[in-house]
Amino acid sequence: MISLLLVGSGGREHALAWKLAQSPRISRIVIAPGNDGMPSEWERWNVSLSEGQSAFRSLAQRAQKEKIDLAVIGPDNPLAEGIVDIFEEYGIPTMGPSAAAAQIEASKAFAKDIMKSAGVPTAQYWVVESEEEARKILKSVPWPVDGNSAGGWVVKADGLALGKGVRVCDRLEDALQAVRDLFPLSNKLGPNKLVQNKLVIEEKLIGEELSWLAFCDGESCALMEPARDYKRLRDLNEGPNTGGMGAISPVPGVPDTFAEKMRQQVFLPVLREMKKRGAEFRGILYAGLMVDFKTGKFWVLEFNARFGDPETQVLMPRIEGDLYPWCEAVAKRNLKSLPSIVPFKKEYAVFVVGAASGYPDQPESGKRIALPEEYVESKTDSPYFFAGVKRRDQLYTAGGRVLGALGRGSDLGLARKQAYDSLQKVKFDGMQFRTDIGRLDP
Ligand code: AMP
Ligand code: GLY
Repeated sequence: MISLLLVGSGGREHALAWKLAQSPRISRIVIAPGNDGMPSEWERWNVSLSEGQSAFRSLAQRAQKEKIDLAVIGPDNPLAEGIVDIFEEYGIPTMGPSAAAAQIEASKAFAKDIMKSAGVPTAQYWVVESEEEARKILKSVPWPVDGNSAGGWVVKADGLALGKGVRVCDRLEDALQAVRDLFPLSNKLGPNKLVQNKLVIEEKLIGEELSWLAFCDGESCALMEPARDYKRLRDLNEGPNTGGMGAISPVPGVPDTFAEKMRQQVFLPVLREMKKRGAEFRGILYAGLMVDFKTGKFWVLEFNARFGDPETQVLMPRIEGDLYPWCEAVAKRNLKSLPSIVPFKKEYAVFVVGAASGYPDQPESGKRIALPEEYVESKTDSPYFFAGVKRRDQLYTAGGRVLGALGRGSDLGLARKQAYDSLQKVKFDGMQFRTDIGRLDP
């Protein structure tokens, strides 16, 4: 029987552990550090992931001593800082990319370069290293440069910036302001830290956004079904960008032929290119796409090197059967032995996040969370996945995205109703949530 270590503490990790706990092959689940809303039968190891490599090393030592058979890494920062390289030094099979491969998420300029070499469709772009260069590009490029260009710009800081590094601008003045705002963001880390000192400027594209995730073992890939996350804070995609206020899967309107198209035109070419550069990608590769379903054209906006949050909260419930063999095959470079498409249940899943007041800028903590009387933490059909919570006498809020509720059903409407019914049984002061997750009308 398998002892599995999951690294991370959010709703994504709650959903992953919940799914892995249903595996007949796993007898022990450890989460480092996890959160206080997770069932108490999962073991938790205290670790401060923000301390970086020294923390990863202690964790790897403990994992080795306690005979962990497989580790799964949730969040982006530890990946970019080399947690997988360290775990592998200690001989622990790990699902997640090396620091070199995680650059596909951590550096937007690197990701663009990979896409260009691999022939993956993406927005036209320029990498600039000074404000002056940026101004020159912004003022001289005649939009639209392609049929789907909306005539605006997107300005992106090069590094991991917690969702604060991207500005979508319709007017030249806004793009110039974004350049002024984002250059200091990439410069201010100081001489001893990673200084990116670069911006990526792109044409703004229009269409529908999709998140497409695949298990990858360096050469082969197995695609999941698509999901959509809702990044803006408020209904109708208004308000600031957040980590994600909800998600649905599958996404209505995506033709069946698209999975094979993604495999041939996105995932396989990127895996080949990464391997060629000595940065073989093993882990979850997540393509953030813009799609025009009328023409069938698509563009990759970004790659993430990990499971999405909250996409994972709708993907895990839909995976048919055991998740463990997929994770093991990635870590052991053996995906070829499994199907090229991950089997999914023919049902809809909707997940709605309940966030703290003040989120995303300054979330308020310490509010008492009232859960419905019928709630039992360890039941496998509990609709809640927890994130920013702390237990004292009971659960209190302790973060931006506090928790979320899952709904499942044979159609989107049923899944949506179930998710909202469950979320509305939870109460805490100032809870913010979107009311339009999974609603079809715009
Ligand atoms: P990224 O971190 O690169 O995914 O950007 C965050 C969000 O900005 C995406 O989810 C899109 O909503 C938006 N975005 C990024 N690039 C573009 C683009 N070229 N055109 C339109 N929207 C974009
Ligand atoms: N849901 C977007 C992300 O995980 O980055």
